[in-house]
Amino acid sequence: MQAARIRIANGRILDPSQELDERGDVVIENDRIVGVHWASGHAPASSPAERVVDAESLVVAPGFVDLHCHLREPGLEYKETIATGTRAAAAGGFTTVCCMPNTEPTLDTASDIEWIHAVAHRDAVVRVYPIGAITKGRLGIELAELADMGRAGAVAFSDDGNPVRSGKLLRNALSYARITGRPVVDHCEDHDLVDGGVMHEGSVSSRLGLRGAPAESEEAAIARDLALAQAVGGRLHLAHVSTAHSIELVRDAKARGTRVTAEVTPHHLVLTHAWVAGFEEGVTRYDTNCRVNPPLRTEEDRVALIRGVADGTIDAIATDHAPHDVVDKNCEFDRAAPGISGLETAFGLLMRLVAPTNGDPALPLATIVRALTMGASRAFNLDLGTLRVGALADLVLLDPDAHWTVDVQRFHSKGKNSPLDGQDLRGIVRLTMVGGKIVHEVPR
Ligand code: DOR
Repeated sequence: MQAARIRIANGRILDPSQELDERGDVVIENDRIVGVHWASGHAPASSPAERVVDAESLVVAPGFVDLHCHLREPGLEYKETIATGTRAAAAGGFTTVCCMPNTEPTLDTASDIEWIHAVAHRDAVVRVYPIGAITKGRLGIELAELADMGRAGAVAFSDDGNPVRSGKLLRNALSYARITGRPVVDHCEDHDLVDGGVMHEGSVSSRLGLRGAPAESEEAAIARDLALAQAVGGRLHLAHVSTAHSIELVRDAKARGTRVTAEVTPHHLVLTHAWVAGFEEGVTRYDTNCRVNPPLRTEEDRVALIRGVADGTIDAIATDHAPHDVVDKNCEFDRAAPGISGLETAFGLLMRLVAPTNGDPALPLATIVRALTMGASRAFNLDLGTLRVGALADLVLLDPDAHWTVDVQRFHSKGKNSPLDGQDLRGIVRLTMVGGKIVHEVPR
């Protein structure tokens, strides 16, 4: 039985939504936060009925909100299910996940959205918000019933995995976005420019003899989308932005007042195309776990993404958790399915940016937490990502100094496809709470 009243005592409370970074207590009653008390404020005496969780040397933050993950249900349950994917989310500190519609069948009707809500109600350990497809079957031919899906609880619309090739359809979708109030999320990629590329086009693709996708295959698509969003006024959200010039385009569009938000993934913030070939002396790998879409880019791109998060050009960090089965990856590089199983390594990977040893611009923990909580929540207009009194008690306890070694076989996710297997990471999620209920706990 869970205590109805829980006190998270003496932690470092880090809540960008209240510009709070102070040591103190957070008190939860049933599913809500009922008190936030810090040393310089007023701390009431504890009541005997409550469970006390010792947060000494831990960070107490709002639960992470993932705007972009693939839960693979319905139809691809051999890769992931709502049960396993949300268990992985809880382990990664995510209390809400927005799941993409590239399932089988595609989530493109109101009843599909209702079905996700029903299964999530039965199986999920964190909040699941479905994203409906922009076009029927994600085929890019005919708009799906966006308003119906919005009424059924779709939080956004996306053909993710595919771009919306037709500018006319995207313009119509953005007009609907004005009616539904829900953003259109585009996977920005010009397929003609990708031209069969399987990794970033550059020095590494040349060395490996793999066909490359140039940076401009993303940038040209982003430029078009921004022009349409500026003209139509509907809310545009750019999925997994990955190049330096893309960041400049978003920065300029925001300065002009375009209603655009953007996300970046932990893997694009930390890894580069060099990872595809591996780092072992004298051994060249073709690591299919590094095949991801958009591809891992150059060092200059990566540094520009970090700067984009630091200055707020990038609103959110989203995992693009893309679990795949072993047969999808245990093959030639150019035949491998793109994607990284990322929910469980996100925080540890991002911690590499907090105290970089390689001359990277550092990202303060508060900036990372903002992009994982308030920034993400605002991009989709969700009332989450805060520890304000009265808010839902969705929170995490982070142990930023604890070290661990990634072992994909211990992932809760069915997707063991991570290039980080065997890597040492610093930063563990000690506890995840959703609506006052502890859904993940790692004892110290
Ligand atoms: O790497 C990726 N995997 N990128 C996408 O856009 C789709 C995703 C998937 O569904 O596997």
